[in-house]
Amino acid sequence: MKTYLVTGGAGFIGSNFINYMIEKYEDIFIINLDKLTYAGNLNNLKGVEESKNYIFIKGDITDVELVQLIFNKYSIDYVINFAAESHVDRSIENPMEFIKTNVEGTFVLLEAAKRSWMKGDQWEEGKKFIQVSTDEVYGSLGETGYFSEISPLDPRSPYSASKTSADLLVKSYHDTYKMPVNITRCSNNYGPYQFPEKLIPLIINNCLNGKDLPIYGDGKNIRDWIYVDDHCCAIDLVVNRGRAGQVYNIGGENEKTNIDIVKTIIRILKNLLIDDVRKEGISENQIKYVKDRKGHDRRYAIDPTKTKNELGWSAKTSFDEGIIKTVKWYLDNSKWLEEITSGAYEDYYKKMYFDR
Ligand code: NAD
Ligand code: DAU
Repeated sequence: MKTYLVTGGAGFIGSNFINYMIEKYEDIFIINLDKLTYAGNLNNLKGVEESKNYIFIKGDITDVELVQLIFNKYSIDYVINFAAESHVDRSIENPMEFIKTNVEGTFVLLEAAKRSWMKGDQWEEGKKFIQVSTDEVYGSLGETGYFSEISPLDPRSPYSASKTSADLLVKSYHDTYKMPVNITRCSNNYGPYQFPEKLIPLIINNCLNGKDLPIYGDGKNIRDWIYVDDHCCAIDLVVNRGRAGQVYNIGGENEKTNIDIVKTIIRILKNLLIDDVRKEGISENQIKYVKDRKGHDRRYAIDPTKTKNELGWSAKTSFDEGIIKTVKWYLDNSKWLEEITSGAYEDYYKKMYFDR
């Protein structure tokens, strides 16, 4: 029985990971430590809350005492650190929380793991720290080329700078103390339970509510999209097969411009909403080009060859299949969407988009 400390497990990718792992394995125990910020939602975990293999602890990864208490009480084998402030636009408006959670929080977790797992100069067998990172640490690409694990680090937003800082701390614990670690760097995820501040769920939500569809700049920035389950599968393989100290890039090899994504969502929604009155209101006329994001990275594209060759991983979901599944999920889970877009979400939306 392996015990996983999953941080940020009530967020988008963390909750998909927990759902995936509890469904796949019977002999694991997952502790989900999450602060439940605006992005954390226990409704994402309805399917596992009754499981004997899962518990939830509400708390902050920067809380030294709490984190140490968890390590003292449970025999943690793996830390999977998803917890983060994750939205680039918020980091541009207000970077402080990004530094606290993403940098200081990772440091607190590393120290607690070191104190618990290191006996003299030796590390206990079978332990590992997985830092869930992002392709944004590599900066921005021109029209050609790909990010590999040895591409230079060149973060360009407060968010990506905080993630890079955390990666370097994790690397330092391997280089200095020989802590068994892996760093994963994934491209843009999409799928169920993503908070509708991110492009895909925001566009779906706005289409359904007759709002403008905001496109930053000329709409030709490129992201490399991966269905969230394929990311979860890769992390599981990294835990079990990843060589200590290694970085693994994960990507769907699905490069799309933002304008393409928006037009695709409009088309799928119109096809799915056959007899629904909302269908008539949805059109490309809703698209509104707005002021660009400051420092907007032009293109991301991951070369996942190392992860494929070493771990036997490949992304199983084509973009065409994944995006239809995703749009359907948001249509079938309108209550989930309504609940999180009431209250504070409206204030955020007004602040970010009304005067843009
Ligand atoms: P998210 O914003 O949906 O979820 C983050 C979760 O972390 C939330 O549940 C939140 O409550 C929790 N959290 C925030 N601060 C915390 C703290 N101080 N202590 C404990 N919990 C805290 O993020 P996501 O999109 O699921 O991303 C998860 C991780 O994956 C992040 O580290 C992100 O950098 C990385 N990542 C995301 C993507 C993507 O496309 N979304 C791609 C690559 C990497
Ligand atoms: O690449 C991995 C990263 O992907 C993760 O590390 C981040 O946590 C995650 O948020 C995501 O970052 P992006 O900035 O790429 O995602 P976002 O959904 O915010 O934006 C995707 C693209 O769409 C980007 O070029 C900006 C653009 N955009 C976004 C929004 C919210 C718009 O044009 N309009 C919008 O309203």
